[in-house]
Amino acid sequence: MKLNEVIEYNLKKFKELGLDNPLQEIRYIILEKIGISLEDQIFKKELVINKSQILELEKIFEERKKRKPLSKIFKKAYFRDVILSVNEHTFSPRIDTEVLIDVLIQQKINFKNILELGTGTGAISISLLNHYKKANSVVTDISKEAIYIAKKNAIFNNTNNRMRYICCDWLSCFNNLNFDILISNPPYIMRSEIKNLEVEVNKYDPLISLDGGYDGLAAYRKILGSIKLIGKKNLLVLFEIGFNQAAQVADIMNEYGLEKIQVFNDYCNLPRCILGKV
Ligand SMILES: C[S@@+](CC[C@H](N)C(=O)[O-])C[C@H]1O[C@@H](n2cnc3c(N)ncnc32)[C@H](O)[C@@H]1O
Repeated sequence: MKLNEVIEYNLKKFKELGLDNPLQEIRYIILEKIGISLEDQIFKKELVINKSQILELEKIFEERKKRKPLSKIFKKAYFRDVILSVNEHTFSPRIDTEVLIDVLIQQKINFKNILELGTGTGAISISLLNHYKKANSVVTDISKEAIYIAKKNAIFNNTNNRMRYICCDWLSCFNNLNFDILISNPPYIMRSEIKNLEVEVNKYDPLISLDGGYDGLAAYRKILGSIKLIGKKNLLVLFEIGFNQAAQVADIMNEYGLEKIQVFNDYCNLPRCILGKV
């Protein structure tokens, strides 16, 4: 069968499902699953694939039609300059989150000791350590499965020797915060909104990675409440936020005594992260 016929058929199905980038996804699946380069896909119009290749592709197309995201199908994700393993226990890293790293680099903020809360796949810390070669990071998560994946990813990306892993509920296992910067992309979806998220998210990202309590802000309150008790002077705090949460999170940061609060936008020009200082 001609590859182009397979593409056309599935493109129609993906469009009917309302996927955002159907052709891009199909090309990625073909590249990942049967190794045909994008160049060959585009320019070798008469390319024929054999029956076993068709079957392999069909299996993936079917999974995608059930709205399983590609990161969960292929068990990997790309985040800035790193490749990460993901599985059903981990939140799939998003391009929105990359801005946290860019903000620190662009603002020329220097630090050595990082504490990252809710690390998931380890995306933020691994990516930061790739850039800040003298830094080290203590990463936490409440999910031991996530910690396992974060460590696996750190080993794969050669940052494991500068990372330490703790499974705990936010700051409950710390009695001081001897770090230069605390970073977190906590769960921030309002509980009542979770059911309205797209299936790719509400079925395939762990609930614990999404659920921000009744107003989406529970994790910020909990973390900042602990920082107020054990945070040292000048500790930087950088959070990812929902695009409509900047004012509320800034209020909570103020309430808990943080200063020099700044909000930064993401690549879609939406408020996406907030920085403050204890
Ligand atoms: C939105 S995900 C972010 C994952 C990763 N940092 C990223 O940006 O891709 C939130 C993470 O916080 C973790 N988490 C949720 N509740 C937590 C808690 N009480 N203490 C520590 N981590 C928690 C989840 O398991 C999840 O890995």
